[in-house]
Amino acid sequence: MLSRYFKPALLRKIAAKAGTPAYVYSKPLFLKQIRTYKKAFRALDPLFCYAMKANSNGALCALAAAEGWGADVVSGGELYRALKAGFEPGRIIFSGVGKTPAELEYALRAGILFINAESMEEVLELECAAARLKVKAPLSLRINPDVDPHTHKFIATGLLGTKFGVSFEEARAIYRYAAASPHLRPAGAQFHIGSQVHSPRPYALAARKLAAFISGLAGEGIRLSYADVGGGWGVKEGGEMADPAALAKAVGPAFSGLGLKLLLEPGRSVAAPAGVLLSSVIYRKRGGGKNFIIADAAMNDLVRPALYGARHPAGLVGPGRGGTKRWDIVGPVCESGDFLAEGVALKEPSAGQLIVFYSAGAYGFSMSSQYNSRPRAPEVLITGPSSWRLVRRRETYKDLLAAEL
Ligand code: LLP
Repeated sequence: MLSRYFKPALLRKIAAKAGTPAYVYSKPLFLKQIRTYKKAFRALDPLFCYAMKANSNGALCALAAAEGWGADVVSGGELYRALKAGFEPGRIIFSGVGKTPAELEYALRAGILFINAESMEEVLELECAAARLKVKAPLSLRINPDVDPHTHKFIATGLLGTKFGVSFEEARAIYRYAAASPHLRPAGAQFHIGSQVHSPRPYALAARKLAAFISGLAGEGIRLSYADVGGGWGVKEGGEMADPAALAKAVGPAFSGLGLKLLLEPGRSVAAPAGVLLSSVIYRKRGGGKNFIIADAAMNDLVRPALYGARHPAGLVGPGRGGTKRWDIVGPVCESGDFLAEGVALKEPSAGQLIVFYSAGAYGFSMSSQYNSRPRAPEVLITGPSSWRLVRRRETYKDLLAAEL
């Protein structure tokens, strides 16, 4: 159970000092998951590149970097954060369908491991940037393996017809072009089939396709060094991650004997269980036959329930009153889409009581906004049984206007 990493007494202390809403992360659980990955993949000795989009807080990133992990970044901003957090440039890869010429140049100047390009136009742009800087750009292509990951359609990316990657056929032509270019160096090939993928089978399928493709290229004299199988390993909301040994078993055999370095880009699976959103009850009300808890956290803090219908298990900190009832937990934002949980069974909380939303360490804070001019929540890191520290302060009203001219 995740609740053992977020003890009520500590949550109360944190709320009293840092206020609510607040994101609270567990260093012990974050590290445990990183180490579980390392153990599961020990025989394959891969490079793990933490997908920073899941949670780019510098304190968590620094923990991953200290464990020897690299970073998967998807924007110039994430690259900036990655470098500041202490990831070695030689362990950073850059993904994304729309990197700008300025971002490509930034990546080349930083000397990152490789760039996962997603179109011929991007490759040409990368070649130009490399020519300007008089370097040879390390190129990997994101290949769309046309494999169904069986997940929410907003986060399924491995099927042709999404905006992601290039087909194997197009990839072959691009690698031939790159091999002949003085400013491009074919370094690797990648797929990322989607997020919240709970079965190892689509990974095994995609890995076999990628391995066959890479062998074919080698037959033409184009030798790649890296096979990158992306991220996306699912976590059940409310639970710790499933053992990634199943993932290792799915992808390992496909690449054996090819002399490739395996890469993975886990994000959610390490970060989601390691974080909760801590909130306080403002009001309770009844309407239209429903019970509502109005919390001080809202869709601007955690958009996943509204955007994907995600269910983040909610729990009261301390006992509630009376019998269990069904509640919709909503925030103060002015739209009906602003809910954090629907129809959850809880005893009645008192006003001011703390409520915790689990599995919020990934795509929680990183997708938060100032919508309704709500300053963003602070982030707290639990470091030991009774120790914690603020790793990002609460934004102020002044912060709301900071960038306006
Ligand atoms: N690599 C690439 C190229 C990606 O696009 C992603 C996630 C990852 C790795 C990491 O996937 P993970 O291990 O975290 O599943 N906002 C959505 C999730 C979007 C995922 C986007 N790409 C959510 O809250 O569910």
